Amino acid sequence: MIVLGLETSCDETAAAVVDGAGRILSQTVLSQVAEHRPYGGIVPEIAARSHLAHLDRLVAKTMADAGASYCDLAGVAATAGPGLIGGVLVGVMTAKAIAAVHKIPFLAVNHLEGHALTARFTDGVEFPYLLLLVSGGHCQLLVVEGVGSYRRLGTTVDDAAGEAFDKVAKMLGLGYPGGPAIERAAKGGDPARFALPRPMKGRPGCDFSFSGLKTAVRQAAETLPPGALVEKDVSDLAASFQAALVEAVSDRVGRALALFRAEYPQGGAFVVSGGVAANTALRAALSERCANEGLSFAAPPVALCTDNAVMIAWAGLERLKLGLIDPLDFKPRPRWPLDPDAAPARGAGVKA
Ligand code: KG4
Ligand code: ZN
Repeated sequence: MIVLGLETSCDETAAAVVDGAGRILSQTVLSQVAEHRPYGGIVPEIAARSHLAHLDRLVAKTMADAGASYCDLAGVAATAGPGLIGGVLVGVMTAKAIAAVHKIPFLAVNHLEGHALTARFTDGVEFPYLLLLVSGGHCQLLVVEGVGSYRRLGTTVDDAAGEAFDKVAKMLGLGYPGGPAIERAAKGGDPARFALPRPMKGRPGCDFSFSGLKTAVRQAAETLPPGALVEKDVSDLAASFQAALVEAVSDRVGRALALFRAEYPQGGAFVVSGGVAANTALRAALSERCANEGLSFAAPPVALCTDNAVMIAWAGLERLKLGLIDPLDFKPRPRWPLDPDAAPARGAGVKA
């Protein structure tokens, strides 16, 4: 059973073919980073046009690399939201066309479900598990009980964790994308030089907040002599920021783990996924916390934490196995929460 997956919801154009045994037959990821870099962030219109320009060729190459023909496919999956709608439309229309021409099932995949199910593909993690989904657009703790079955324990009341990395990197002149740049700059930096807050630490609940931390970094930078920050300052600020964010996230995870364990005392696992899960310091802190609590820890390899089409093909395959096929008039969704019943986040900085 093989499935083709397409990912076009952000700034990666990606296609992949995976099989039911959890193998990647082929995958291609084309990053648009160079196209967006001059603007210091993603420009949705440029992203959509670039997906349109490259996706057909990418799909053909990925199919050829897999040695597969379209009639071998059990289904074709595409990210159908949430994300930048112009790009999402490109992937969805392409997948629908392939499905219509070759008379195979179309699978409309929630991008977040792609991230959420990746650890089942890479590590064979079984339900239920506690998931920390940390990316450029999201920071959520969810109990995952099955395909399509998510219960949110907490979310950010302002910025996503990746957004905080990206904004702080921009502030420090480290460029875009910010996460990897901060991680590099933080190496060799002094994480104790700047006393930054650990937002929400010790508070009830499992929600996150990062905008105050971002402001604190700016204020700390302003205490330094005017003019360009020297390399050592940037490195120490990056290290202090990363340490504060990791400690804050780890505290929230600790609270969620307690809730999860009370509900599932005899098992389960903890999974971290999404672009920010590529961060080595965060992975280490979370893995240590799980080890202390005797809970198994899984984090997909870095290349499958950041956006990719393997996760979309795999989520499509999981849905296909359950007969969760979508009609060809499925409407892409710019907003698409994994837990539609979750109460809206509350806080001073909540975005509409
Ligand atoms: O999942 P992803 O590729 O795209 C979204 O769905 O948002 O996540 C991208 C985010 C960006 O904010 C990027 O700065 C962050 O993940 N990121 C990292 C690292 N690599 C990527 N953040 C911290 N450390 C990293 N090594
Ligand atoms: Zn993502």
